[in-house]
Amino acid sequence: MAQKLIPFDDRDGFIWFNGQLVAWREAKLHVLSHALHYASAVFEGERVYSGRIFKSREHSERLARSAELLGFQLPFGVDEIELAKAETVKANAIVDGYVRPIAWRGSEQMGVSAQASRINVAIATWVWPSYFPPEIRAKGIRVTMSKWRRPAPDTAPTASKAAGLYMICTMSKHAAESAGYQDALMLDWRGQLAEATGANLFLVINGEVHTPTPDCFLDGITRRTVMELARRRQFKVVERAIWPEEMAKAQEMFLTGTAAEITPVGEVDQYRFAPGPVTKALIEDFERLVRAPA
Ligand SMILES: Cc1ncc(COP(=O)(O)O)c(C=O)c1O
Repeated sequence: MAQKLIPFDDRDGFIWFNGQLVAWREAKLHVLSHALHYASAVFEGERVYSGRIFKSREHSERLARSAELLGFQLPFGVDEIELAKAETVKANAIVDGYVRPIAWRGSEQMGVSAQASRINVAIATWVWPSYFPPEIRAKGIRVTMSKWRRPAPDTAPTASKAAGLYMICTMSKHAAESAGYQDALMLDWRGQLAEATGANLFLVINGEVHTPTPDCFLDGITRRTVMELARRRQFKVVERAIWPEEMAKAQEMFLTGTAAEITPVGEVDQYRFAPGPVTKALIEDFERLVRAPA
């Protein structure tokens, strides 16, 4: 089914760009931007539910922390970013959608060193319904193992939501899609289960909720929310090192992330799962929470 793509540089609306709203098509940067050549960029992905950004402040704080991990400071404080996001959502009349703040080193200096480069910040927002097609999501997505591994924390700033860390995610996702799957799972540098290409993972083993310890990949805001919801349901939550063979013992598996929300997994190569009672209960609780009045 061919879907008509609306290019992201040719849309109506407004983008917040270094302190002010500009017309969507005018939010441009130069081809000699440091970030494009050397991946000196950090970003966020957030969802708007019923006009409100879920866990907005946590995302703004993570953006600032991600930048610091890459050695730069945002030229705007968390409070200013909060106001800017609200202004952008309002200007674009987004009720249910997605917010993408990004900060990057500019074009003042070219070469590995970029000490004199300006730090830029932009915020865009758009309607983005479901990360995976709803009909596939209902029975669980098909996932395959990636050949790429999450790097060790002393080889990359793995706690940062940094653009450079997504190079292997895109390669993994493309390989999976080309082979007929919806996503790929990545092991970490030790060979333990890490995460999917843009979401964290959970296994349900005999009613317990198990998830890998995030010591070399993003400790997702949705992941932490789901762990809290599971505890409220009196499910035992176990955060630990998980080996891929342990998928054979799991009855349910799901992914969590701002874009993916809670997405059931139907299969990972030879392993099969069903979107069972634990996954369904957590989806229900999550949907209620994101739309709960402040
Ligand atoms: C690689 C990766 N891991 C995990 C997550 C989940 O993070 P969060 O729940 O904060 O969106 C994301 C999505 O942002 C991601 O891109």
